[in-house]
Amino acid sequence: MRIIFRLPFLVLICSFASSAASITGAWSASVAASDGHVTVTSFSFEQQGSELTGKVVTAGGERPIKQGKVDGEHVTFVIELGNPASPRIVPWEGTIAGNEIHLKSSPPGRPVMEMVAKPADPGVLLPPAKLPLPALKDVPWNHLSRTPPMGWNSWNKFQGKVDDKTVREIADAMVRTGMKDAGYHYVNIDDTWQGERDAQGKIHSNNKFPDMKALADYVHNKGLLIGIYSSPGPKTCAGYEGSFGHEEQDAQTYEDWTIDYLKYDWCSAGLIYSDEDMHAAYQKMGAALAKLARPVVFSLCQYGKADVWTWGPKVSGNLWRTTGDIQDNWNSMSDIGFDQGRLAPYAAPGHWNDPDMLEIGNGGMTDDEYRTHMSLWSMLAAPLLAGNDVRAMTLATMSILLNKEVIQIDQDKLGKEGARLRQEGEQEIWTRELTGGAVAVALFNRGEAPAAMTIKWADFMGGKRPTFIRDLWKHDFVKGTGETWTATVPKHGVVLLRMSR
Ligand code: GLA
Repeated sequence: MRIIFRLPFLVLICSFASSAASITGAWSASVAASDGHVTVTSFSFEQQGSELTGKVVTAGGERPIKQGKVDGEHVTFVIELGNPASPRIVPWEGTIAGNEIHLKSSPPGRPVMEMVAKPADPGVLLPPAKLPLPALKDVPWNHLSRTPPMGWNSWNKFQGKVDDKTVREIADAMVRTGMKDAGYHYVNIDDTWQGERDAQGKIHSNNKFPDMKALADYVHNKGLLIGIYSSPGPKTCAGYEGSFGHEEQDAQTYEDWTIDYLKYDWCSAGLIYSDEDMHAAYQKMGAALAKLARPVVFSLCQYGKADVWTWGPKVSGNLWRTTGDIQDNWNSMSDIGFDQGRLAPYAAPGHWNDPDMLEIGNGGMTDDEYRTHMSLWSMLAAPLLAGNDVRAMTLATMSILLNKEVIQIDQDKLGKEGARLRQEGEQEIWTRELTGGAVAVALFNRGEAPAAMTIKWADFMGGKRPTFIRDLWKHDFVKGTGETWTATVPKHGVVLLRMSR
């Protein structure tokens, strides 16, 4: 009798001790935002002694757990986001409390996120089953974006805080500040506008956007155009509803709302499809948009994967991201921008390389660095999507975003993207061929001190000194008759010239 009682008791003690000591298994945490949206983050933890491995699964994809440690009740690990070559490290820490883990993640430059993870069915870690994708077939060009699209996008400044009121005020400010007159026509709502699907599967906006059609009317009445955002996956990168299995229905909803622009972000599609499936997954939405009466700019956002520049035009993509997400600092902007020249052959009217949206005016760079950002993006014939709070721009920000002579380079109708001509240490000369035989020449100084940079006129327009040489930041003609010209270019700064006969 004694033995019969003792055995289960021992087993109970052992199993309790091991479950308290190990967090191995599936866990899930839900966080509700003020717009009613619930974001789910799942964890697959594998604990061996004090070592912790596994993965974090969000709508944005799966990330392996690195540097994981369990020390008593204390859990720490990191995940890496963005470009694997220069990842953004996100530290996590947590406290084990009974059958909960109280977790906190601290993404760089973003608010700290706190959540309580609970043991979950391992099924939470599995994505939905893949849906069939169409056979590859070219979708004809929509005849939009003959020059790179210009406008504003909510993400860089507002992230999840964008709402109807902000978008209306930004539209007002685009008119008031002259942004509209300078060519910035699209007012684009990025992630976090989505609410639930109804019984018929129709997507509705969430409580931050009470009436999308009324908002579109407001923006249109200002003489501007309106853009929206979705994903080929079930969830967007911020964990909101994506278009997976609802592509045609969503395209129709956008038409009902009179939407003019769609940014389509890979995000959770990466949990379901492989990179080889991307072309077909984007074609599915491209074909759905092509059926609409209203032409919609199609912006592919898949971080430059799968050589998108080779097939972007075939899905009627007007622009395609070529990189991971930009951040408002010199290293991020310059690493992205100066790496782009190699893709120049793929840009053409209607179809543009997109090195990501502008950070000008967001405060993380100097004015010289922002002038480099604007000049480089214009040399690259990049979409110019301002990412700042247009309602509250400093004069310096306005002088950069509203420099019409630089915008003219970006918008040049020949549609030829520029590239690096020469690099000497940290100084680089880039050129861009323009209509009418004109040439844009940018002298970039990536160094930490001002640098004297000398150019030979004969290098650019064949033989003689060009008749007109305009300094596009000084708004003045370059004088002098010599064969060479020397400019002092500030640290991280630029001199941008337009030469013509
Ligand atoms: C991705 C995109 C960003 C932005 C966010 C929104 O990271 O690359 O530009 O759209 O998603 O969640």
